[in-house]
Amino acid sequence: MPTHKRPEDLRSHRWFGVEDLRSFGHRSRLRQIGYAAEDWHGKPLIGIINTWSDINACHTHLRARAEDVKRGVLQAGGFPLELPALSLAEPFVKPTTMLYRNLLAMETEELLRSHPIDGAVLLGGCDKTTPGLIMGAISMGVPAIYCPAGPMLRGNWRGQPLGSGSDVWKYWDEKRAGNITEADWADMESGVARSFGTCMTMGTAATMMAIAEALGLTLPGASSLPAPDAGHPRMCAQAGRRIVEMVWEEVTPARILTPAAFENAIAVHMAMGGSTNAMIHLVAMARRAGIPLSLDDFDRISRKVPVIANVRPSGAYLMEDFFYAGGLPALMKVLAGRLDDRALTVTGRTLGENIARAEVFHRDVIRSLDKAIYAEGGTAVLRGNLAPRGAVMKPSAAEPRLRQHRGKAVVFRDYNHMAAEVERDDLEVTPDHVLVLQNAGPKGGPGMPEWGMLPIPRKLVRAGVRDMLRISDARMSGTSYGACILHVAPESFIGGPLAFVRTGDEIEVDVAQRRLHLNVPDAELARRRAAWAPPPPRYVRGYGRMFQEHIGQADSGCDFDFLEHGGEVPEPEIH
Ligand code: FES
Repeated sequence: MPTHKRPEDLRSHRWFGVEDLRSFGHRSRLRQIGYAAEDWHGKPLIGIINTWSDINACHTHLRARAEDVKRGVLQAGGFPLELPALSLAEPFVKPTTMLYRNLLAMETEELLRSHPIDGAVLLGGCDKTTPGLIMGAISMGVPAIYCPAGPMLRGNWRGQPLGSGSDVWKYWDEKRAGNITEADWADMESGVARSFGTCMTMGTAATMMAIAEALGLTLPGASSLPAPDAGHPRMCAQAGRRIVEMVWEEVTPARILTPAAFENAIAVHMAMGGSTNAMIHLVAMARRAGIPLSLDDFDRISRKVPVIANVRPSGAYLMEDFFYAGGLPALMKVLAGRLDDRALTVTGRTLGENIARAEVFHRDVIRSLDKAIYAEGGTAVLRGNLAPRGAVMKPSAAEPRLRQHRGKAVVFRDYNHMAAEVERDDLEVTPDHVLVLQNAGPKGGPGMPEWGMLPIPRKLVRAGVRDMLRISDARMSGTSYGACILHVAPESFIGGPLAFVRTGDEIEVDVAQRRLHLNVPDAELARRRAAWAPPPPRYVRGYGRMFQEHIGQADSGCDFDFLEHGGEVPEPEIH
């Protein structure tokens, strides 16, 4: 093991290694916990940042996995201590976990900074926990390795595989249309989530875990390992061993997170048909690392990387199948010519070295480039007078007829307005209309909730319609699908052009041309803008107020302005 650092160079040495009154206090308090000098003396202190909680079903196993990490740390001669962090259980946190991603990032950064930590193992997986943990670790800068929670087992209903989210949306429409019974629906409730672990479709969790691996921040293959697989605790123990070496070798996020690493991550995102949410998170992570990344980078890479992971919602299979087919290393092997294989990873080896032995074992799950699910990447960036700073769409998950479309708008001013209107049998709407939702962006939602897969109006569902063009400044769940144009920036709540669309206006979309246009004369739009008054702020106190005052727009990653890369934060004084 190459060693660069000496024990007296460790950050934790400042707390425990010097001879003064403060160190006496620190050491006496470690003894109070039950540790002796043999536990800490001259050893890297590894902080295990754990997003386990009783209410997070995706992270149920992380309490036990922290013990596996500790086992590895001890084996390698480190001193492990676990620190709990915000859990952000996607299904339960309201109005949306996105309101709190930056809070987790702040917490991670400050937990690492304020404690005597030399290196970090980050335990997360449920949607916002991956970017939150990684953004904080990037800003703090100590060596860090990410242990993804891993996907849950396949869902099952009457022998049919059920996918998180994707199949729920699908069967909800069948229920609204009267095609399945209450009893069927109740059976699905028990069958859709059969084990701990994250959603097992290519939702935000699976996408972000894969992105973390593509960035080089996980052990090879870690992101596809199903949570209940016995390989998962072995991976955690290995991460524990490796982080101790990373501290001595000074393998920091800054050495791993180069522009090439982010290009690799975008390519993997495209090939996976990944969640649109990942675009926001990747931009935010890159900006933390001081690397300018824009929506144009996604669009450029999207045009040359096809979707080859045949996983729902873009494809047919689930993450458990993807793992058996070879997992992410196998997918990256297929993409090899489109990746920079010289990128450094947490293993201390390059991406190319990590995937050298990878193989595809099921060629319908991980396709070859010439048998792609969709010829281009999973996500397209659209621009036009309706989204001057961009909007995103997942064309691979939309009905092909809607990738080039012109239709009249049906506008909903907010979520509650939409929820009431779509159930009206007398709503004037046809399958060719374009549904528009306003005030669902970063400040307007607030927190940019996952409302972007607007429900198809009930009367059309009954008539068999299953996809329509929908536009909003919201996000949508990575498990969602359909012709949904999302992340419209700037958002309507702050006077973006989406605020000025009216029912009956004509909207034109051309995915091939990356065009999103509102066919209303500029003079009329200017007149509407002059008559527009900003809505009152959503919060007058508390965290929500800080959020709305500092949150950025979707195209810049929705980070807080004061957390982005910039001036250094000093190491804490130890008095
Ligand atoms: Fe946690 Fe989907 S609800 S990953």
